[in-house]
Amino acid sequence: MMLETVAAVPGMVAGAVLHLRSLRRFEQSGGWIRALLEEAENERMHLMTFMEVSQPRWYERALVVAVQGVFFHAYLATYLASPKVAHRMVGYLEEEAVHSYTEFLRDLEAGKIDDVPAPAIAIDYWRLPAGATLKDVVRVVRADEAHHRDVNHYASDIHCQGHALREVAAPIGYH
Ligand SMILES: [Fe+2]
Ligand SMILES: [Fe+2]
Repeated sequence: MMLETVAAVPGMVAGAVLHLRSLRRFEQSGGWIRALLEEAENERMHLMTFMEVSQPRWYERALVVAVQGVFFHAYLATYLASPKVAHRMVGYLEEEAVHSYTEFLRDLEAGKIDDVPAPAIAIDYWRLPAGATLKDVVRVVRADEAHHRDVNHYASDIHCQGHALREVAAPIGYH
């Protein structure tokens, strides 16, 4: 849950940077603004979902405030300096998230963590069946993280080849 508060930052930062660039240069973004903002929204939904399962303590809230202040600015600086490096970094972080959720799933399957009913917000957002449980939620969240990993590595690869993001359309078709 704590990591989701960090994970929802890069997409919003990168989306905002590309949004402003699009306005400044009078050019389209190739769908990347929408794709990145959607990533941020998706990560925020991960947080909203896991909040239903466990509540943050006061010192965890304090930590999030401190980490967000630092991470937002650090990621913005990194993205302005090198989108290629920034997306690569996120790609690796997302891979770590896939590992973490795989372990979470293993603990759920082994009965170390109670497989409680899925929160209503999760059933709504991922259109899960009515009887869905936490296990189902973790599976769809892990699939999201794998998608973020691929999208961010792809964004970084494009920069490796010397193309601006806008020249290669985002994996989902927006403008
Ligand atoms: Fe996430
Ligand atoms: Fe993620």
